[in-house]
Amino acid sequence: MLSPTGALVVEPTADGSKTMFSEDFGEWFHSRQGAYTEAYTTYVEAVDLASLAQASTLTLLDVCYGLGYNTAAALETILRVNPACRVRLVGLELDPRVPRQAVDDGLIDGWPTPVQDCLADLAATGQAQRPWLEATLLWGDARQRIQELEGVEFQADVIFFDPFSPPHCPELWTVDFVRRVATCLHPQGKLVTYSCAAAVRTAFLLAGLSVGPVNAAGRRWPGTLVQASSLGLAPLSAQEQEHLLTRAAVPYRDPTLRDSAAAIRQRRQQEQAVSGLVPTAHWRKRWLPPREKVSPPR
Ligand SMILES: C[S@@+](CC[C@H](N)C(=O)[O-])C[C@H]1O[C@@H](n2cnc3c(N)ncnc32)[C@H](O)[C@@H]1O
Repeated sequence: MLSPTGALVVEPTADGSKTMFSEDFGEWFHSRQGAYTEAYTTYVEAVDLASLAQASTLTLLDVCYGLGYNTAAALETILRVNPACRVRLVGLELDPRVPRQAVDDGLIDGWPTPVQDCLADLAATGQAQRPWLEATLLWGDARQRIQELEGVEFQADVIFFDPFSPPHCPELWTVDFVRRVATCLHPQGKLVTYSCAAAVRTAFLLAGLSVGPVNAAGRRWPGTLVQASSLGLAPLSAQEQEHLLTRAAVPYRDPTLRDSAAAIRQRRQQEQAVSGLVPTAHWRKRWLPPREKVSPPR
């Protein structure tokens, strides 16, 4: 949905903050229940960033920086609870128009001024340098840019993982990309995403990580907290565990990290067709009330 000027269409969400719609991916950038709220609840609170920020240094990776809301909520929290914390932040983002329009249209005006200033610098130059912050945005396809981080042995204490949904953006939910992201997670670090899709959780498990459910703002389904160790993770419910035994758990694959979304979707469909896993319809019938049968977890 583009406005007559070619800009992305902007709409208010339930908490008063605004989001955008992506014509390219056919999705809203945030939960319509509240964009700023989502950044706090689904990302910052889910990893208990306020506690992690008590450390003297903190390294963050924001996969799919977008309008910068997850980064903003993190910086606001760190500045509030421990201004002495030294922060290193890297954001990955395909489309520079998105953060720039967020600044130009005043969508970031609800964040504290020092945070707004950082977002404005990042959108304009890809860098924000402060005595307490060293932040960089890496523009382009995250599948390629992540490899540069591996090269410098980047280790994040916290990773926000926020691509568009798996059906709309399968290229960022593949086992192959997730494995790359996993190498950037510190052994004691935490990754959080809004998705609880079985294919997504399987991808993290195949990358050698542990997964647990976590509250996700404004969504019917929980998100997923991911760590190297299962210590401290809430256990998956019986419903969630059984979901991982169905064909919905067949992961997306992209061995060269260069395939189109269509090719990745098709490869998964072919793998599902020959899979020995039980049809997902059985799981839906057992666990979901009839009105939910048409909208499985994402
Ligand atoms: C759901 S939005 C992220 C919202 C963001 N976290 C925020 O707080 O505003 C998904 C973002 O992923 C970006 N994206 C899509 N494909 C990408 C790719 N291959 N590499 C990097 N970013 C990508 C889109 O441009 C979009 O900004």
